[in-house]
Amino acid sequence: MKSFAALYALVALLPALASAQSAEWGQCGGIDWTGSTSCVAGSTCTKLNDYYSQCIPGTAAPPSSSNTPPPTSQPGSPTSAPTSAPTSAPTSAPSASNPFVGVTPYLSPYYANEVQQAAAAISDATLKAKAASVANIPTFTWFDTVSKVADLGTYLADAQSIQNSTGQKQVVQIVVYDLPDRDCAAKASNGEFSIANNGQANYYNYIDQLVAQIKKFPDVRVIAVIEPDSLANLVTNLNVQKCANAQTTYLTCVNYALKQLASVGVYQYMDAGHAGWLGWPANLTPAAQLFAQVFKDAGSSPFIKGLATNVANYNALSAASPDPITQGNANYDEIHYINALAPVLQQQGFPATFIVDQGRSGQQNLRQQWGDWCNIKNAGFGTRPTTNTGSQFIDSIVWVKPGGECDGTSNSSSPRFDSTCALSDADQPAPEAGTWFQEYFQTLVSRANPPL
Ligand SMILES: *[C@@H]1O[C@H](CO)[C@@H](O)[C@H](O)[C@H]1NC(C)=O
Ligand SMILES: *[C@@H]1O[C@H](CO)[C@@H](O)[C@H](O)[C@H]1NC(C)=O
Repeated sequence: MKSFAALYALVALLPALASAQSAEWGQCGGIDWTGSTSCVAGSTCTKLNDYYSQCIPGTAAPPSSSNTPPPTSQPGSPTSAPTSAPTSAPTSAPSASNPFVGVTPYLSPYYANEVQQAAAAISDATLKAKAASVANIPTFTWFDTVSKVADLGTYLADAQSIQNSTGQKQVVQIVVYDLPDRDCAAKASNGEFSIANNGQANYYNYIDQLVAQIKKFPDVRVIAVIEPDSLANLVTNLNVQKCANAQTTYLTCVNYALKQLASVGVYQYMDAGHAGWLGWPANLTPAAQLFAQVFKDAGSSPFIKGLATNVANYNALSAASPDPITQGNANYDEIHYINALAPVLQQQGFPATFIVDQGRSGQQNLRQQWGDWCNIKNAGFGTRPTTNTGSQFIDSIVWVKPGGECDGTSNSSSPRFDSTCALSDADQPAPEAGTWFQEYFQTLVSRANPPL
């Protein structure tokens, strides 16, 4: 954590200052708020909802949503289909506080096994030891096919048993990722279900199976990322026919997932793309309107905590300086994106908090275009998962994408070939999405920042 220590030290000062007076855009009231209720000069404490009052610059007028009209449709950045292990959920009443606090992340045995095998294949002793240490870093488990759901029960039972023997409450971190006509704006992560072939019913069955496993272990907490790329594609990619066709089904299926998972106490974060996608100022308000509507349509459950950003992407949480590819977007990293989006969500009635994937964000300024997402060359593992985020809006830095699992194949003859995976900034040759990419993993290890 060395190179980030200074940053955290700086950011850590902010809450201390805020206890005297909250900063511009800082929280200044709301249910369970114990900090300052006054704002620095030049801003006014404004109630956005029962849970959140905020220091709005100027008078008490609500924050104006977007600034200048900038580039709208950024290329949708699709994610890859990773594989991993599961989690479980609690039955207890949701708390307004951070679900990552007071729990120990359960380590995915699936990913740990992949990492151990990868380390065993490395001859250099120093690199081997660093590689092996990745197995101890909490990483989400992706349920990207219905056939993997049975494993969730195994992981939950294991987590329950660890919880019993250590007395430490366990949290299983999962990704729900099996929509029909999945990944509608790209090809690499096409899923198993199609809308034309009973996709909605198949998806409901997939969710029902997840819920059945989670129900059996009410004492183990489960935190879930909901459907990477899906709702973001509905914000910017309805010009893609497959996305337009999928719109109604995506909304219906995500609504079902949110409600069913909330009913068994799963804390949920809907995927919200990243700064270079929905973070363009012209996309912020349409995105906030969609997420808030989805939240309300699912009953505004407090288990629907908020949004996940940068899943499987490469953006810094807080960049030292803007990457040249972000030119023109004031929201050039995830913290700027989140600070811009959160107030608009609150205005729309969704008091969302965030989690941010930093698993592969250790190295910056690697891409030719901001929309490039596939196996970016020279990437390194990033900031370790922590609740010490320096932001009131961010519940935790997380590792959602299991580093080493491929984003997509570079083989142009494959049916799942996406040309993004053959761009000059994409590492090649690359195997199929979700399968192990040893050379890529070794680079992530050797270029980790902070170092492993
Ligand atoms: C955990 O402890 C509870 C009782 O406290 C018990 O009912 C349950 O069977 C235990 N589970 C495991 C997996 O050890
Ligand atoms: C590329 O994909 C084609 C079609 O699936 C396959 O036959 C071929 O062996 C693959 N090439 C490589 C180098 O993997």
